[in-house]
Amino acid sequence: MSQTKTQILWEKQDQHKGDRLRLFQAIGEVIPATKVLYAGSYVDVAPSFVFDDVTYADMDKRAAKFFADIDGVRQIISENGGSADAQFQFKHGDYYDLELADQHFDLLISLYAGFISEACGHFLRIGGTLLVNSSHGDAALAALDPRFRFAGVVETNKDGYKVSRDNLDLYMVPKKPQTITRETLIASGRGIAYTKSPFAYLFERVQ
Ligand SMILES: C[S@@+](CC[C@H](N)C(=O)[O-])C[C@H]1O[C@@H](n2cnc3c(N)ncnc32)[C@H](O)[C@@H]1O
Repeated sequence: MSQTKTQILWEKQDQHKGDRLRLFQAIGEVIPATKVLYAGSYVDVAPSFVFDDVTYADMDKRAAKFFADIDGVRQIISENGGSADAQFQFKHGDYYDLELADQHFDLLISLYAGFISEACGHFLRIGGTLLVNSSHGDAALAALDPRFRFAGVVETNKDGYKVSRDNLDLYMVPKKPQTITRETLIASGRGIAYTKSPFAYLFERVQ
């Protein structure tokens, strides 16, 4: 049987087969999140393999079409071990303009998609977790943001991903001495080169 557009988009997204499933499994093991916001998700539906209520947001038309195929997306979720009752919704547009309730989410995901900590941090509840990688400078921006406390790293190993909360003072140390401000980060739109390079960082929203 020929593949649907939804399946084709997912297979392209999932070209390192099961990689994002392993990432979100590792996060789900240590972060007891129910409501998850994934801004700049494109078609990465993998959080729904693990979490029961995920809101996706992206400005890309292909992502909007993908998530509009509710049955096709449900099928991908169930084929990857997600719950048959998993709730998901998609918001099409700029994540700076999202109309969602403040402090509603337990987990906010920012992977390769810009300054989501700044645009969407207010949607995260106090005590909730920001998962963010250093690409595009968002991890460095979160580190400057008084609302967030650096709380862990996501390391890769031969089995996939592992969250660690040890020796955090060894992380986020720039290779070259430099002044890092919100303005320098936004002007460059690039991550800082750190002496250690975990896959991603965890921050707790503290205020
Ligand atoms: C490189 S892709 C990353 C997709 C996904 N997070 C991943 O890790 O595979 C970046 C995505 O962010 C989206 N994006 C960037 N800026 C955005 C904005 N201001 N509002 C909504 N979506 C945005 C793009 O449309 C694109 O789909």
